[in-house]
Amino acid sequence: MNIQTPRGTYDILPNEISKWHQMETLIRTVCDLYDYKEIRTPIFEDTKVFKRENDSSDMVNKEMYTFNMGNDSFTLRPEGTAGVIRSFVQNKLYGSMELPAKLYYMGEMFRHERPQKGRQRQFNQFGIENIGAKNPIIDAEVIALGYSIVKSLGIDSVKVLINTLGDDESRKKYKDVLKEHFKDSINDLCADCKKRYELNPLRILDCKIDHNHESIKNAPSLEDSLNHESKKYFEEVLNALDALDIPYEVDDKLVRGLDYYTHTVFEVISTHKDSGSQSTIFGGGRYDNLVDYFGGPTMSGVGFAIGLERLLILANSEGYEFEDENYLDVYIIALENTGYFPLEIATLCRANGFKTEFNVVERSMKSQFKSADRKNAKNIIIIGEDEVKNNEVTIKNIKSKTQVKISVTEIINQLDVFSEGEE
Ligand code: HAM
Repeated sequence: MNIQTPRGTYDILPNEISKWHQMETLIRTVCDLYDYKEIRTPIFEDTKVFKRENDSSDMVNKEMYTFNMGNDSFTLRPEGTAGVIRSFVQNKLYGSMELPAKLYYMGEMFRHERPQKGRQRQFNQFGIENIGAKNPIIDAEVIALGYSIVKSLGIDSVKVLINTLGDDESRKKYKDVLKEHFKDSINDLCADCKKRYELNPLRILDCKIDHNHESIKNAPSLEDSLNHESKKYFEEVLNALDALDIPYEVDDKLVRGLDYYTHTVFEVISTHKDSGSQSTIFGGGRYDNLVDYFGGPTMSGVGFAIGLERLLILANSEGYEFEDENYLDVYIIALENTGYFPLEIATLCRANGFKTEFNVVERSMKSQFKSADRKNAKNIIIIGEDEVKNNEVTIKNIKSKTQVKISVTEIINQLDVFSEGEE
């Protein structure tokens, strides 16, 4: 039988996991610096969490893994925001947490997309949500958090694209303007755009098929439909980014692929040659109506999510030096008839914080030395029959080439001495 991973999914193998751990640790450290707390929500949710009335996004309408169990419909989460807001409301975090609540999450998401480099059907996202306050400074700070993670991983070829969708009033006005604009050309656009025309004409601007069509290129700019408050809010976000020295480009065609955004939307894209067509590292924005939708009080939130596979691809191509965690403090070479002694010594070393491996396979001393070398052992402990009899070991430090025979009670002290010598 030859069974493979489903298309668009992949295994993260032991030789790659160390990079994931280091990336995750770095992310958690940055979240801690900004005082964000982790939240873990289920991987599947009631379909209604994601499929909201009149949603016109591709993600919701075409890409969700939805299944029925009895009379219930569930969906594997395609993104983190909706589940986090559901939890924020369900658990009344707006009452128990200091506002704004600052939450982050990391984990698997699922979208039935056409797989390619940097685009999978199961992928990992890290995201943050700042819920319960509305202030342009927070929008800028949220972007700054994501930006600093990208930079900390050595990813320098990046560009921040930013736009505003304005408040509800401005967006409504803009939708009417777009309907008028596309009135004559809508029949020339794809079938999806015809649906978008009815549901949410803003989505037409995001069409992957017709993005080069004249009517899309010449679409009126949202800026002209913005009311005074929306313009002012956006200007203040940009001023705050200036204050933080974060370079950005205002892109008035940026509408984002999800339906819940109001005011600020942004994407951070890679300009590195290896990023291919999947160049968006992270995207996000503000949402004024989501908490309310889930039955919570009227409060605004803002957040983003980073695709971790993309982040790793770029960190690698830009030459970020991950630490090599393939090493051992101690490799125990055990010769014949040494019984449980090597296991006892390994346990002693481990209990004292030394990363230790010992040989359990019957093989020559030479091949054990080779194994120790492949595992980058810093010290080698050799145990033969005599050592067992005398309750002692031979211990060798690889770097200094010092070798001594010592009693078992002295092992830890000797390892400490060797480690000090290596610093
Ligand atoms: P999104 O733009 O749909 O936003 O996804 C965010 C990031 O997830 C993308 O920029 C990309 O790096 C990664 N991503 C998305 N789809 C895939 C895929 N199929 N394979 C690999 N990576 C992918 C959201 O998900 C929003 N929830 C962000 C947000 C949070 N907005 C407000 N708060």
